[in-house]
Amino acid sequence: MKVNYADIVISAVSQKQYPTTQYPEVALAGRSNVGKSSFINKLVNRKNLARTSSKPGKTQTLNFYDIEHSFYFVDVPGYGYARVSKTEREKWGHMLEEYFTQRNTLKKVYLLMDFRHDPTAEDVQMKEFVDYYNIPFQIIATKIDKVPRGKWNKHESTFRKKLQLSHDDKIILFSAETGEGKDAAWESITQAIQEEHNA
Ligand code: GTP
Ligand code: MG
Repeated sequence: MKVNYADIVISAVSQKQYPTTQYPEVALAGRSNVGKSSFINKLVNRKNLARTSSKPGKTQTLNFYDIEHSFYFVDVPGYGYARVSKTEREKWGHMLEEYFTQRNTLKKVYLLMDFRHDPTAEDVQMKEFVDYYNIPFQIIATKIDKVPRGKWNKHESTFRKKLQLSHDDKIILFSAETGEGKDAAWESITQAIQEEHNA
């Protein structure tokens, strides 16, 4: 998809702030610093639409981006950021639970995980969480430019094992640096949002 129009609509912390336009929606979730905002920027070909930072914990709110007036990207604040208080973590948990359970225009969750490392306990939990609520998901392995190609198969099988993926669950290998995996990601997204029209 070639994107001409992309803009942030709102940074929300609770349901009453979510946009009410009935666009289909896809969300990006994953550990802090895994590359969620970079993923959005790469897909829409903009350097700074979603704010990125080498400092983890940049995105603290649910950020809704209108893409081509046809769907929303939702940048979900990252988990696993150690320097937040217990109260903040609880607030975060509540915000995510509300979003994932109440948002009926949500078509698919993209679970971003750093390809350099084994999925963390929280990555596994996140996958189990969306499974539990029957939300369709797609795993995106990020920062593949940092992993030598010769190791890709080994890393992919570790991912499959740790996340207990079924045979049909494909992993999209992605790099915001090189753009690899961008076409596969778009293909998955256009398919996910199209299911809206048939529903
Ligand atoms: P939070 O908003 O804190 O949850 O982080 P995030 O998941 O939005 O991560 P962000 O996109 O801000 O990226 C974090 C850092 O990783 C930045 O320094 C990015 O430049 C870098 N980064 C993201 N994706 C890639 C990638 O594919 N390859 C490489 N080499 N670096 C990446
Ligand atoms: Mg971010």
